[in-house]
Amino acid sequence: MKILIIGGGGREHALVWKVLQSPLTDVVFVAPGNAGTALETRVYNVAIKSTDIPALIKFAQKEKIDLTIVGPELPLIMGIVDEFRKSGLNIFGPTKSASQIENSKVFAKKFLLRHNIATPKYEYFTEINLAISYLNTIKFPIVIKANGLAAGKGVMILHNKQEAEKIVKNMLTGNLFGNSGKSIIIEEFLYGEEVSFIVMVDGKNILPMATSQDYKRIGNNNTGLNTGGMGSRSPAVFINNNLYHNIIEQIIYPTVFGMAMEQNPYTGFLYAGLIINELGKPYVIEFNCRLGDPETQSIMMRLQSDFVDLCMAGCNGILDKKDINWDSRYALSLVLATKGYPNHFINNDEIHGLSKINCNNSKIFHSGTSLCRNKLFTNGGRVLCITTLDEDTKKVKERLYKIAESIYWKNIYYRTDIGFD
Ligand code: AMP
Ligand code: GLY
Repeated sequence: MKILIIGGGGREHALVWKVLQSPLTDVVFVAPGNAGTALETRVYNVAIKSTDIPALIKFAQKEKIDLTIVGPELPLIMGIVDEFRKSGLNIFGPTKSASQIENSKVFAKKFLLRHNIATPKYEYFTEINLAISYLNTIKFPIVIKANGLAAGKGVMILHNKQEAEKIVKNMLTGNLFGNSGKSIIIEEFLYGEEVSFIVMVDGKNILPMATSQDYKRIGNNNTGLNTGGMGSRSPAVFINNNLYHNIIEQIIYPTVFGMAMEQNPYTGFLYAGLIINELGKPYVIEFNCRLGDPETQSIMMRLQSDFVDLCMAGCNGILDKKDINWDSRYALSLVLATKGYPNHFINNDEIHGLSKINCNNSKIFHSGTSLCRNKLFTNGGRVLCITTLDEDTKKVKERLYKIAESIYWKNIYYRTDIGFD
């Protein structure tokens, strides 16, 4: 089969790596890919942006692509799945309408309330005065969220009214996140453990991926700014059988059935960002219409089933006929970033040390890298992601950081507390 992967981050490199292990795969194209995908055998990077849907369709038709898998949210939200299907192309992902679940916080919140799925209390605002009066009536901390997409930065946790007023004004006037912040939700702050619960969906059936957690903040001990994710682990060890069952029954099935019932069937990867409160009750704090990055790197490392076969089953509505098998070992991923990320950072540092690494039970996935005359350079905030597997939670961490220490570039930065503790 000829497979096309859309995107160019660490998540997409992990998808490419897993797709290559399928006996069904002949060749993989990645649009646009990165230096890591370019270095894999039987893989070709294609210089088409992940949002250039007409060019992607033309390419897929010309190459007679059998299956397309989409990594990032933007092409999904722009309607890549609808357009590919109209052109008779096989693609695994949600439609434009279904991807509103990530694209609009208000859509997601209203959907959750309609279907009685647990989520923190919230109010929706477009007017500064109304939002500020509301701040007088609530207990802090609170969470303010831009309604639209804001590159993972649109969520702020505020501890007092003064701070909150400033953010409300800056968001609603469009100063902070442009149009995405001109409508906001103000949400109750929940205390608890976060988990990324990702499932494959074919419109009616689901197949859960291994549980995972990511480390969202830039600094050790979960301090500093929110990022796309500085590390991940799988499984989420605190999820016992009872909680797992509750998440499926109280959150995942009602979401998938609710979407189908509203004539908006969900297909593709569904990512429920959950907080499990002190009483062990799961609440949805967000949905993503895609796989997580870097959760995917840890999940793919543990996946033993044929990923291409599963995605085809997802396209054909027969996920109920499939099982999914996982390596029982612990997977841990560490993102190596460039100093300054998630704000301003410098590209084009030469990356050293990669060729000397023993990759037994480990893999280095590329995100922001470029290749020039056989040398590797940084080309993004998140540059590499080291993922490793072990049955021992201590050994997995030791191996991860041993590999990290052998990699170097001038402005390298990573957290030193990623692990199973
Ligand atoms: P989101 O983009 O909605 O996942 O939010 C980013 C981060 O903000 C989450 O990973 C949580 O750490 C935090 N967060 C979002 N909503 C809440 C909430 N209602 N209570 C506590 N923390 C939250
Ligand atoms: N790691 C969080 C995300 O992919 O949204």
